[in-house]
Amino acid sequence: MDVRIFPNAHAVDAFAAREIAALIQARAAGGKLCVLGLAAGVTPIAVYRALIDLRQQGLSFANVATFNVDEYYPIAPSSPGSFTRFMRENFLDHVDLDPANVHELDGSLEVQRVAEHCAHYERAIVAAGGIDLQLLGIGRNGHIGFNEPGSPRTTRTRLVTLDTVTRRDAQDSFGGDEVPQQAITMGIDSILCARRILLLAVGGQKAAIVTSAVEAAVTDQVPASFLQEHANASVYLDPAAAERLSRFSQPE
Ligand code: GLP
Repeated sequence: MDVRIFPNAHAVDAFAAREIAALIQARAAGGKLCVLGLAAGVTPIAVYRALIDLRQQGLSFANVATFNVDEYYPIAPSSPGSFTRFMRENFLDHVDLDPANVHELDGSLEVQRVAEHCAHYERAIVAAGGIDLQLLGIGRNGHIGFNEPGSPRTTRTRLVTLDTVTRRDAQDSFGGDEVPQQAITMGIDSILCARRILLLAVGGQKAAIVTSAVEAAVTDQVPASFLQEHANASVYLDPAAAERLSRFSQPE
């Protein structure tokens, strides 16, 4: 797998934003839609900020369609912890996307309607032509989206139960409120269908799981390790997130 270590977190974010911007422009030049899969979380915030800056410098998102990778369940989109709200506030509301091209997972549906919503989401991805670039972070337990350890390779968009580590790590974004016990997430297979995948990780708290994901065997116990099976996935790291990779601890 392509693993790149940048001098600092800012360089990770800037490089990822430039790659996304270049893809948007290349697709626009061909008269094509550019379909982006978007992750929430702290890690990609600066990427979204950089893309908003590029918008202010003239980059158009008129040919961009977006699919959020996950959302808590149950949750109102207006809730402070909602990824729908996160994505609007940190990115979508600040660029010239056509609202018809914005696709969000709805954590406020009645449970009986969730399966159809997930199936509809998968159909919408196909109808848009598939995801050109999927942006990902990684949970400390190796999750991508909300595909927790144990998620099979074949999974598609569905309702899942969150594990304890994930709920603990999310507590800050919920303030005093309880973190929902479930979530809706694109599946491992939905993610691996993207033509390009960028996984970003910064900070020492991700170092151990990054090493498992990129250097150990592929296993459903570390869902991010499935990215090793993708022909065009890259992992962009700052030095702290890379510090346990063997290329550093066992230099030749
Ligand atoms: C969250 C989300 C993921 C995200 C990951 C890492 O809970 N489900 O989409 O990539 O965990 O989050 P962070 O970037 O805040 O460390």
